[in-house]
Amino acid sequence: MNTHEPIVYLNGEFVALNNAHVSVLDRGFIFGDGVYEVIPAYGKHLFRLQHHLERLNNNLKAIQIKNPLSSNDWQLLIEQLIIKNNFNNQSVYLQITRGVAPRDHNFPHQENPTVFMMTSALEKQSVDIANNGVHAVSLPDNRWQNCHIKSISLLPNVLLRQQALDKGAVEAILIRDGMATEGAASNLFIVLDDCLITPPKGPLLLPGVTRDLVVELAIKKNTCLKEQTITEDDLNNAQEIWLTSSTKEILPVTKLNDKSVSSGKPGSHWHEMMADYQHYIQTLEQSS
Ligand SMILES: Cc1ncc(COP(=O)(O)O)c(C=O)c1O
Repeated sequence: MNTHEPIVYLNGEFVALNNAHVSVLDRGFIFGDGVYEVIPAYGKHLFRLQHHLERLNNNLKAIQIKNPLSSNDWQLLIEQLIIKNNFNNQSVYLQITRGVAPRDHNFPHQENPTVFMMTSALEKQSVDIANNGVHAVSLPDNRWQNCHIKSISLLPNVLLRQQALDKGAVEAILIRDGMATEGAASNLFIVLDDCLITPPKGPLLLPGVTRDLVVELAIKKNTCLKEQTITEDDLNNAQEIWLTSSTKEILPVTKLNDKSVSSGKPGSHWHEMMADYQHYIQTLEQSS
């Protein structure tokens, strides 16, 4: 338990959470005009930091905000933040918005981005999930066409996630033009004919850092792997369904739309991949 007040980073300063204030004219608040990252830290070791920073850089470029910090400076600040907070495993959230300006859709003449970082405890996956998996539902993907940008404008994702919760599931698997793209806050893998399949990267899904590691681990093991579109039929006939994200790692979906996936228990491919994934994390934790 962390009994201290969380310390956050805001525009060049580390301050107690309660003392961190942003103007109501911040374009993040007014327009959702910004991008974010979520970076896990295991035993204070940052997970795939360079991948996260590279994605952040791409996202800032995509929305035309100059990256306010170099990779080295990001690393130093994030490392200071996790040391100042007390959790063993942490989930670092960082957000950059186009800053404070009079409300106007036009970009402000002078760019002065708001940089915010906070961290929270990262819970490891429960034994119950390993034993029983989770329930997901499929829902129409009604988001915009730039889902590769990790935008803070998450209203569609929030509504989709809530619809899933209201149906007794933990995540929505999104279907666009008959193809399953990803989850509301996760990437999608299925096992079909003993082959692991995940949709290829492109504008319709977020290039997940966890997704990339799962792909890497599969290639290392010579597992049959295809980066190809997943039809709704493929999804409904899958032997296994997984959802990946930085905070949830690899979630086995054992029920889709109230129908069991295979035996209704996490499958053998998931167990094997999860063991490799945990081994990767243990190696990271033991690194100097
Ligand atoms: C829409 C969406 N897809 C995929 C992911 C998974 O990305 P990552 O593995 O980098 O956390 C997320 C994470 O929040 C997400 O919001």
